[in-house]
Amino acid sequence: MPLPLLEDSPIPPTIEWMGGHIRLIDQRRLPEDLVLLEVHSIEKLCELIFALAIRGAPALGAAGAMGVALASVQGRDLAEAASLLKATRPTAVNLAWGVDRALAAADPVAEAVRIAADDVAANQAIGGHGTAVVPDGARVLTHCNTGSLACVGWGTALGVIRSAHEAGRQPSVWVDETRPVLQGARLTAWELQQLGIPATLVVDSMAGSLMAAGEVDLAIVGADRIAANGDVANKIGTYSLAVLARYHDVPFYVAAPTSTIDSATPSGARIVVELRPDAEVVEIGGVRLAPEGVPAQNWAFDVTPTDLVTGYITEEGISTSVG
Ligand code: MRU
Repeated sequence: MPLPLLEDSPIPPTIEWMGGHIRLIDQRRLPEDLVLLEVHSIEKLCELIFALAIRGAPALGAAGAMGVALASVQGRDLAEAASLLKATRPTAVNLAWGVDRALAAADPVAEAVRIAADDVAANQAIGGHGTAVVPDGARVLTHCNTGSLACVGWGTALGVIRSAHEAGRQPSVWVDETRPVLQGARLTAWELQQLGIPATLVVDSMAGSLMAAGEVDLAIVGADRIAANGDVANKIGTYSLAVLARYHDVPFYVAAPTSTIDSATPSGARIVVELRPDAEVVEIGGVRLAPEGVPAQNWAFDVTPTDLVTGYITEEGISTSVG
């Protein structure tokens, strides 16, 4: 079912409800190939979520809701489907949020379709508000992928950059490659190319030097879960960026829909950080670089204390605190 708000976008919707099944972009194949997968079972959807074929908090929210919708049209046990889906990735609160919303709805299919449409509308509102913090010609540093691919469409932090671009602010983007699985290098760089927004790829460890050289006007990142006190879980490396930004007096914004705010989690200390397979660290693109037998630690996310956040950009506006 096409989303009207995305008709002019060069990037197709990340995930769509196709009547009786789900269609999603296989993000493992980008940037080489834009491949759409047709998903007909909960088990396959869970496997794809864990493997990062679909990822990014808002996209996971839609995937969770569509998973419950799929279970409902197939006459499956909805509670079992919900627990399988929620177990795939623990940190992004949107996944459980989307699952629970569809589970509580009288019509899970209608709810999943609504969540997908609302996501695009919320992101465009985030972009509209966020444009205010992007000065003309701003050099913006971002981390991971928070664009259309991380959502159903448009994007959160990258959506702010996209909106600022469309508003004529002429932003340019420093794209962190985002080890270990390179969402920045593979996905953000690709999206920015599709949108015609100037972008330069850098290794994650260059951020401090860029800031010290006065080359960064602001940093904008997304979030996987924002605790009630404003602490932010996001892709590993976000915390280091926030510390660097504070040291160098660079504004540090978090852009996320209000569905990413988890009022049931009081602070970042209570956020469960996903531990992912060692293989993502010892290999790049399936090629082993580290010696056989070396252990690796792969925390997929970190927690940035609210004190380091200049402002939160949501569909409701810009604020220095949440809640
Ligand atoms: O492991 P990923 O790729 O799902 O991590 C994604 C991020 O950390 C994003 O910054 C976050 O989900 C916000 S996406 C709009």
